[in-house]
Amino acid sequence: MSNEKRGSFTGSIGFVLAAAGSAVGLGNLWRFPYLAAKNGGGVFLLVYIILALTFGFALMTTEIAIGRKTRRSPIKAYGELKKGFGFLGYFSSIVPFIIFPYYCVIGGWVTKYTIDYLDGRGWELVSDSYFGGFITSPWSPIFWCAVFMIICAIVVFAGVDKGIEKFSKILMPLLIILIVAVAIFALTINGNDGRTAMDGLKIYLIPDFTGMTFSRFIGIVVDAMSQIFYSMSLAMGIMITYGSYMRKEDNMVKSVNHIEIFDTVIAFLAGLIMIPVVYAFQGSAGLEASGPSLLFVALPKVFAQMGWIGDVVGASFFILVVFAALTSAVSLLEAITSVVMDKFGWERKKSCWAVLIVSGIVALITCFGYTICYFEYKLPNGAVGQILDILDYVSNNILMPIVALITCILVGWVIKPKTVIDEVQANGEKFGRKGLYTVMVKFVAPACLIVIFLQAFGLVDRFLALF
Ligand code: PHE
Repeated sequence: MSNEKRGSFTGSIGFVLAAAGSAVGLGNLWRFPYLAAKNGGGVFLLVYIILALTFGFALMTTEIAIGRKTRRSPIKAYGELKKGFGFLGYFSSIVPFIIFPYYCVIGGWVTKYTIDYLDGRGWELVSDSYFGGFITSPWSPIFWCAVFMIICAIVVFAGVDKGIEKFSKILMPLLIILIVAVAIFALTINGNDGRTAMDGLKIYLIPDFTGMTFSRFIGIVVDAMSQIFYSMSLAMGIMITYGSYMRKEDNMVKSVNHIEIFDTVIAFLAGLIMIPVVYAFQGSAGLEASGPSLLFVALPKVFAQMGWIGDVVGASFFILVVFAALTSAVSLLEAITSVVMDKFGWERKKSCWAVLIVSGIVALITCFGYTICYFEYKLPNGAVGQILDILDYVSNNILMPIVALITCILVGWVIKPKTVIDEVQANGEKFGRKGLYTVMVKFVAPACLIVIFLQAFGLVDRFLALF
């Protein structure tokens, strides 16, 4: 398919905002804060930032360069780089296929919460059974998931420059304004028993190594690594797809830096809102207890204690979560659509329709996972989950590390890092961190990826238990 037909971003800003839109999502606003809370705040933050600048940077540069060099969707890009690696294209294209439906289910949940807040019904969300009652109700989750999916479809229908780029250019700046405003407000609040948000801020910002054991530290590193993956939308062909729409004359080093800064700053700010606020109202116990329910259960309780201001803050916060989730889901849908376009030679609308129908069915089944198809499944890493958790587990813990690992082997050892470095420098720009890049892609990233993969089966925990 010709490049004209595949579409293109109109410039560097459009590219960065769209890629950052993909990266900034539920991972930043829901997953990062609860992982930071679970892992003691400051230490996690420090480990995360170091890994983002090394491991994350190497993987993201690799994918964007592969996309821009081959100008293909992931399904063809790998095979074009090296004969025999075409299978990797299929592998990495399966990942967004799995993620998109369940991402829309969660997107539906946040959309519903947003509407509740806008409706002035924030206080209803406080009851412990609200979230459970909602996801187990027969039609409401399906309805909100459909609404969310339709919005994504409208954007992807419109194409790369008129849809995705425009959409991201509007939503991303709004998201920044909202998150900064909510963060400033959050830090001024006083909670229960004389605790203030500022006390919670210390937990978040100051790494506390007292009582840190080796196995706990490794646990934190593994959590941070897998979070970087998810958060930066890596190993699922998205950055390859967006890279393929990047113009040759745009500066790749700068773009990667900007996307990373965007992603990390938003995750940082989300933690800056949630950790101090939950600490102020519920203390350390509240932070440790909340886990994944931090966003849907703990936070609404906190907002409710703020009176009418809580409604305004709650609405603003959930609006920004919806924005972030939408731009990410759009990138997933775009990646899958581009694969279908490339594979079958169909035009955009037809491809998008086909994807929507299949994804819609999977999303429906995922919603049913909490109702008529309910069962409890024990995952290999020990967690118990429903259909959504299984999809999440298979994509994030198994397929993504495999794709990233083989990509590193391909680039580090087969086609050699120079191929990527040359692409980065294609228009004469300087790739300052190329030494770091080479070491990362050849040695460090593969080692990290093996650890993530082993942990998917709880093997790292078992190994550490020996000490
Ligand atoms: N990077 C997104 C986030 O942080 C998650 C995501 C995963 C987006 C997969 C697209 C694809 O939420």
